[in-house]
Amino acid sequence: MTAITFDVQTRCFHLLNDRVSYILRLGAGAYPLHLYWGRRVRAVHDDLLSRLTPYTDETFSLHETPLDLLPQECPVMGGADLREGMLTVRHTDGTDALDLRYERHEILEGKPQLAGLPSARGEGARTLLLTLRDAESGLSVELAYTIYDDADIIARSARIINGGAQAVTLERALSACVDFEKADFSLVTLSGAWARERQASVRPLVQGDQGVSTTRGASSVQTNPFLALLAPGATETQGEVYAMALCYSGSFAASVQVDQHGMARAQIGIQPVNFSWTLAPGESFTTPEAYLCFSAEGLGGMSRQFHTLVHSHITTGRWARSERPLLVNNWEATYFGFDEEKLLSLARCAKDVGIDLFVLDDGWFGHRDADNSSLGDWVDDMRKLPHGLAGLSERIHALGMKFGLWVEPEMISPDSDLYRAHPDWCIHAGNRTRIESRHQLVLDLSREDVREYIVTSICAALRRGNVDYVKWDMNRNINMWGSACLSADRQKELGHRYILGLYEIMSRVVREFPDVLFESCAGGGGRFDLGLMCLMPQAWCSDDTDAWMRCRIQYATSYVFPPSTMGAHVSAVPNHQTGRISPLATRAAVAMGGTYGYELDLTRLPAEELEQIAALNRRVHAMQRVLLYGDFYRLRSPFAGNECAWMSVSPDRREAVVTHVTALAQPNFKPSPLRLAGLDPELDYRDEETGRVWGGDELMNYGFVPNAPWGDYTATQLHLKAL
Ligand code: GLA
Repeated sequence: MTAITFDVQTRCFHLLNDRVSYILRLGAGAYPLHLYWGRRVRAVHDDLLSRLTPYTDETFSLHETPLDLLPQECPVMGGADLREGMLTVRHTDGTDALDLRYERHEILEGKPQLAGLPSARGEGARTLLLTLRDAESGLSVELAYTIYDDADIIARSARIINGGAQAVTLERALSACVDFEKADFSLVTLSGAWARERQASVRPLVQGDQGVSTTRGASSVQTNPFLALLAPGATETQGEVYAMALCYSGSFAASVQVDQHGMARAQIGIQPVNFSWTLAPGESFTTPEAYLCFSAEGLGGMSRQFHTLVHSHITTGRWARSERPLLVNNWEATYFGFDEEKLLSLARCAKDVGIDLFVLDDGWFGHRDADNSSLGDWVDDMRKLPHGLAGLSERIHALGMKFGLWVEPEMISPDSDLYRAHPDWCIHAGNRTRIESRHQLVLDLSREDVREYIVTSICAALRRGNVDYVKWDMNRNINMWGSACLSADRQKELGHRYILGLYEIMSRVVREFPDVLFESCAGGGGRFDLGLMCLMPQAWCSDDTDAWMRCRIQYATSYVFPPSTMGAHVSAVPNHQTGRISPLATRAAVAMGGTYGYELDLTRLPAEELEQIAALNRRVHAMQRVLLYGDFYRLRSPFAGNECAWMSVSPDRREAVVTHVTALAQPNFKPSPLRLAGLDPELDYRDEETGRVWGGDELMNYGFVPNAPWGDYTATQLHLKAL
């Protein structure tokens, strides 16, 4: 059960569910002050209140008692608090002063959806809308707080409304801020690079600024819109963790500022660098939504809360809670070098081993034989596909398979008919040389004509191909920002306008094809964020398909995102990104940590391997519900050593899949027991493969002992069912 109460006496708002409380108080001249976030408390008494008593309304004076010392809910720049705030404005006279005080509030059942932005749904939730107002300018800010009952998550966003008579420009508009009284936390972030996305890093907080951010126009491969603070002693399995994740796919900033008195201010939102937004009188701006997660069960508990949020409130549509088709994608099998016959032979072979879906990747349109042409020209390349997409799709469907297609709708190749016709449709800075990346430029999604063209041409291709699945790719970041359609004073709106345009075109295309499974992709996992997950339930996790690298990438990706969101494929050996050779069983066990598929030329595999693949596919089908939607436990971190292990448990705890991978084999090595989690201690479990039986209590307290590895990169997998 959730509740939101307002105590008129103490002027406290208390948001709570059965496990968590979040409390704020109107104090110090009616500023919303942060009082508490953590394990549930039933009510607020004097001790908690007295934290803020030096600054009660009777004694408060803005001149004498700087807000600089108080934990706040919506700190602003241009006021008495000199730390970095959530909001900076520029009035027409060039000044930035702002004094936001309580005006009114409303408590709602459920949760309003954000205008123009993806946001979580609100079944079983309650929402507080708290409006603050700056009397001088007429600007108000409506803070939204939603508390869920099935996940220990509080969703926050802010709507800034210009109720004054003059225009006002936002220079900084973050989504959420939490002031902690202490700073004895470790900061966990995800960072990486192409083919090495989302590696976990941990560092102690120090006085000053720290965090992660991007200015690339995408949530990026280099980092991820997430941070977590670990209280002293918090680990994977225990202790208190406070985390924030942002529902946004563009440039963001997530930061912690530790001040002079050792208070820590954590904030997340749209990247303020290169951002501004002008509001005419009467206009409003909505920030993306941030999710605040509290866990008293370490990082593992945090992840299970985020996974519940994703499954119950973020992903939507026919595929959100369904088993996913096993696919084969031709990218690493053929790259650009294919014709219809080659594709059909791959599809036939895939069908024979029980694969459900054939995906045609890049290179089917225009005259694209390499990555240097044709993006934007979504017309079939009849040289490669003599019967067009329609003919190929018909032939694939006739095999009894589903048909999927790759598109990269946001891009334009300078060598394309589209570019020759509309050279100003891309993002560019006046007459300066346009800097290409992967030989391509980015379409200006702030323009309505561009959005119309994309929706029309992409929908036509998907209809022509009668597709069952779409991989929506985006292969470069944005530089030299500039739009031919925006006035000089609005050029800094382009980054956010691009993302709003993206959400609009994606929503329109997804709505047009309600039965199609959509997977997003960005040069691998370059936009692996909750924003896109509201629109597309899965995302390609990384262009790195090497099993051991994927252990690391998927392990840390699971901090926020469940396996049902992570595209993961078995690829060829030697691996195309690392040259590493790992056994087929290991590559498959790791790919089962996500939405399962293949990305290699099956027609070149020996008969024994094809038989093995057919058996693996039967296994995936048997285990998929638990693998994708079970409660997820990380057991051994690949960032800590030579092993990696994780498991998923069904909600009734009667079924589980455990995966254990060892990187390098060592001679004379005694494997240590792997303690499992989430099982029922009273039940006995049998491994479906070997018939071995253990007690749930035994597996969780002593563990199961993996075989000593023979050879590098070996995996053991258990499919446990309760007897
Ligand atoms: C990106 C994707 C790959 C593949 C190529 C095609 O790199 O991440 O999976 O689709 O584009 O060009």
